[in-house]
Amino acid sequence: MCFGTARPKLVLHLRRPPHAPARPRRGQGHRKGCDVKMIIAAIKPYKLDEVREALTTIGVRGMMVTEIKGFGTQSGHTEIYRGAEYAVNFVPKMRLEIVVADSLADTVVETISNTARTGKIGDGKIFVLDVAKALRVRTGETDDEAL
Ligand SMILES: Nc1ncnc2c1ncn2[C@@H]1O[C@H](COP(=O)(O)OP(=O)(O)OP(=O)(O)O)[C@@H](O)[C@H]1O
Ligand SMILES: [Mg+2]
Repeated sequence: MCFGTARPKLVLHLRRPPHAPARPRRGQGHRKGCDVKMIIAAIKPYKLDEVREALTTIGVRGMMVTEIKGFGTQSGHTEIYRGAEYAVNFVPKMRLEIVVADSLADTVVETISNTARTGKIGDGKIFVLDVAKALRVRTGETDDEAL
């Protein structure tokens, strides 16, 4: 079931542009589950546990975590990591991938942002993507029901 989606329920298109495809009807591409978003975040590694805990508190039930290296605006300049100054192009980060129902996406972004922020350079980046489909392998449930 999909509750509390932030998307407006009804959008009136009085005139469809001449070459626009007809909107799908039930049974022709209509999706039962609610929309699902993926939040990708690069954060400072030592913030991982705190961010995970905060996300669990707001109802996130799964995530992927990968150790990565990356760079942002200060590419080629220095950045502090574990007390050491990195004068290299790539700095260690944690990459989080979190898939949630549309209605939770803004809260996830806010929570990561508030928890990962130190106010110093290299605090990270957050990206939000639409997810075409999600599926729980064990049961075959899809979209938000797969989360
Ligand atoms: N444009 C981008 N595309 C993809 N990943 C990015 C991008 N910018 C930053 N990242 C990822 O985010 C990490 C952290 O970036 P960072 O916080 O340094 O961004 P920034 O724009 O330089 O901000 P700040 O000025 O606060 O340092 C990078 O190491 C990289 O992994
Ligand atoms: Mg930076």
